[in-house]
Amino acid sequence: MNITVVKHPLVQHKLGLLREGDISTMKFRQLTHELARLLAYEATRDFELESVTIDGWCGPIDIEQIKGKKVTVVPILRAGIGMLDGVLDLVPSAKISVVGLYRNEETLEPVPYFDKFVDSLDERIAIVIDPMLATGGSMNATIELLKRKGCKQIKAVVMVAAPEGVKAVNDAHPDVEIVTASLDSHLNENGYIIPGLGDAGDKIFGTK
Ligand code: URA
Repeated sequence: MNITVVKHPLVQHKLGLLREGDISTMKFRQLTHELARLLAYEATRDFELESVTIDGWCGPIDIEQIKGKKVTVVPILRAGIGMLDGVLDLVPSAKISVVGLYRNEETLEPVPYFDKFVDSLDERIAIVIDPMLATGGSMNATIELLKRKGCKQIKAVVMVAAPEGVKAVNDAHPDVEIVTASLDSHLNENGYIIPGLGDAGDKIFGTK
């Protein structure tokens, strides 16, 4: 399985706080921000470096910098927006691509209703963000859109994953690493992750 469950104490502590049943919107949003930042740190662990020479204070100096074009962060609407600033805290020069999907009520398949990608995706690493990896339908649809545009390096960063979603993404896209704070038990009959966090979008935006 291509999944990294981040066992850092700060990650596990913040995830535990997110699971509180009557958590406020403010607290959920703040913790989502903090957790996204820590998960982004892990997700960028294997980024390739290259050596360049710059003018230092005492003359030319060789430094290391991340190789290639700027990263693109890809929030899946709507809940992915809640993780965006946390990732940008660590990768402030990243470009942002956005994907919106709705579910076709007959086929239950995700259908893209909006996408806006940055240029040169074939030269960028894409970090797709969505708090919950449930069935994997939205994540797979987003990965397919990115690959169709030529993107070759994709990471999926989610706060909580269900085994069903991990299998769906791993089966369809074994090259895509999933970085998460937790691999939870299962999906219930309504598609919610158990124990999960409830509806992450509603909790981030304060709806319902
Ligand atoms: N989306 C959510 O917000 N929560 C789940 O448990 C599953 C999908």
